[in-house]
Amino acid sequence: MFPLPSLACLACCASLGAGRDVKTFVNPAVPIDVPIPGNYTGDLRPQVHYSPPQGFMNDPNGMFVDANGTWHLYYQYNPTAVVAGNQHWGHATSQDLYHWINQPIALFPPEERVYVFSGSCVVDVNNTSGFFPNQTNGVVAIFTLARYFENGSAGPQTQAIAYSHDGGFSFQYFKGNPVIDSTSTQFRDPKVIWFEDHWAMVIAYAQEFTVGVFTSPDLKSWSHASNFSYHGLLGAQYECPNLVKMPVRDRVGGDVVDEAFVMALSVQPGAPLGGSTTQYFPGSFNGTHFSPWDSATRLTDFAKDNYAAQYFFGVTEGSNAINLGWASNWQYTQAVPTGTEGWRSAMTLPRANYLTKATRIGWIMVNEIVDPSPVLEDVPLQLSSWEIGSNSSLTPPSPLLIDYSMVDSNALYIDVNVTSINASAITGSSTLNLTFSSPASGESLRSGFYFGGDTPFFVDRGGTRAFDNILFTDKFSVADVWNTTAGTWRFQAVIDRSIYEVFIDSGIHAGTITFFSTQPLTVLSINTTALPKGTEVFVAVWPLKSAWKPFENEQGIVAGNTSALHRKGKRYMEYDPQF
Ligand code: FRU
Repeated sequence: MFPLPSLACLACCASLGAGRDVKTFVNPAVPIDVPIPGNYTGDLRPQVHYSPPQGFMNDPNGMFVDANGTWHLYYQYNPTAVVAGNQHWGHATSQDLYHWINQPIALFPPEERVYVFSGSCVVDVNNTSGFFPNQTNGVVAIFTLARYFENGSAGPQTQAIAYSHDGGFSFQYFKGNPVIDSTSTQFRDPKVIWFEDHWAMVIAYAQEFTVGVFTSPDLKSWSHASNFSYHGLLGAQYECPNLVKMPVRDRVGGDVVDEAFVMALSVQPGAPLGGSTTQYFPGSFNGTHFSPWDSATRLTDFAKDNYAAQYFFGVTEGSNAINLGWASNWQYTQAVPTGTEGWRSAMTLPRANYLTKATRIGWIMVNEIVDPSPVLEDVPLQLSSWEIGSNSSLTPPSPLLIDYSMVDSNALYIDVNVTSINASAITGSSTLNLTFSSPASGESLRSGFYFGGDTPFFVDRGGTRAFDNILFTDKFSVADVWNTTAGTWRFQAVIDRSIYEVFIDSGIHAGTITFFSTQPLTVLSINTTALPKGTEVFVAVWPLKSAWKPFENEQGIVAGNTSALHRKGKRYMEYDPQF
C-alpha cells in the first residue's frame, strides 16, 4: 500500500438504483453510467496491452471468465487523477484477452473516505450465497474496504462483498457487510476460489507476513482455517495473495500429467530489485491448508514491472491458468511520464500458466504468452533464417536491420528460434542480441542472451531518456539455465511503445520492462556473435494491430461500451452481448 494523497472531497451520495439501500459515495467528477472515454493515441500508450482510459490504475482485480467466454478485468482505479488514491474498481471486458472494451466503473466507494481496495470475483453458479435464486451467472465480488480518517490516517481494513445480477457489470453492496470484520489497518486483498465443496479465500495480513486461509459455504460467513507465514521474501509487506490450481506438464509445452496449486504472493516495498515483486510457491492445497513442495523462493518475473498479478476465476477445468499483472512498480509508478498523456499504468500481456520441471532448476511456473494471433497483422514484417558459417547472405556480425517506422501501432511481436546449436562449441562470447533504437534521437533499448557461461538474458532500458528517476533502475538479467543438449533456444517478445515483455524458452522465464523514450523506437537490429558453426537462426517479426484503433471515433477517442447508457439514476444496464 502507498500513502494516500489527501482528497478534496466533493461530497455527493447517490443511491444506485431503486431499492438499493446501501448508498455509494460518488464524486461528481466520476460518471456512474457510462465508461470514461480514453485517447489511446499517445506515443507512450501501449496498443496491445490494457491501460485505463484516463487516470491511474494499479492492481488487476476480480478477474473471471464467464460462461459465454467473456473475460472480465476489474482494476484498482483512480478516475480523477494520475496518482494513486480514491480507489474504485474500473472494468473492461474482452473476448480474446487482447481487445478490451471499457465498461462503466463497477464499484464505487461505499462512503466518503472508504476506498474499494483489491479483491476478487467468483461466479456463484449454484447460488450458494442466496443472491441468485433465478440465475446461474450471478457474480459476487469480495474485496477490502479501506477506511481513512479525516486527518488522512489509515483506519481499519475490512472485507466486504457485493453481488451482480447482470453478469458483473453492476453491483450492489451486501447489507450484511463486513463479511470479515477487523480493526487492523493492514488486512487486505481477498482472493477466493471454489474448492470441491466450499469457498476458500487467501488474504494478506500484510505487515505480519502472513497469508490467512478462510473458508465459507456461502461467501457471507467466513471461518479462519490456517495461516501461511514467513515464506520466501518478506520485503516490508505481503500483498495480493493468489491461490490457483494449474496443470502439471511433463515438459515445457508437454502433456498434462497432474494438477497442483500455486501460492503467488506479492511483496512491496522491499523487493530485491527495489519496490514491488511477486514470488510464488508450487504446492498442495487440501481445502484448508497450503503446503509448499519445497522451501525455494521463485519470482514470476525477472525485471521490475510485474506486480500483484491475478489469476482468472472460471478458466476451464484442466486447462492452463491465465493471469494478468500490473506492469509497473510502486517505486516510480506515480511519476512515469505517461502522466502527460493523462493516464498511468498498463497490465501485462495475458499469460498462460502451468507447472513443469525446468532444466537443472526443477519446479517452475511457466508464463507462456497467450496466443497473440488476434493482434498479429496478416503479413509478417520479416521472416529470415540463416545458418552460421554457411554462405547465406546474412552472416554474423552483420546485423539484421528491421525498420518498423511504417508500423502504425509501433508495436511488434518477435519470435526467434535458434536451433542445431552444438553445445560443445559454445563460448562465453556466443550471443544473440536484439536492440531497438530511434534514429531520430539515438535512444535505444538493448537486450540479448549469452549462450555460454552463466547464460544470462539481459535487458538495458538505460538508453531511453524520457524518464529520469533514481529508482527507475535500468539493467536486468536472468540466469536462463537452458537445455544445451537439446540444442535449441527460443525467444518471444512484444515491444509495445513503452513496454517490452519477453518470454524466454517458451516462458520458463518472463520479464516485463517499461521504458520511456523521447522519440518512438523504430529500428530493430538483430545480430549474433560467435555462435557455433551450423547453428540455425530463424527470425519472425510481426507488426501488431492496435487493439484500440478499431474503437476510435473521428477525434481519436475510444468511448467504451456506450450501449451501457441507461436511465439516469438507474445503475442496471441493458448489456449489449456483442461486447
Ligand atoms: C497493492 C495494493 C493492495 C491494495 C491496493 C490499493 O498494490 O497496495 O494491497 O489493496 O494496492 O490500491
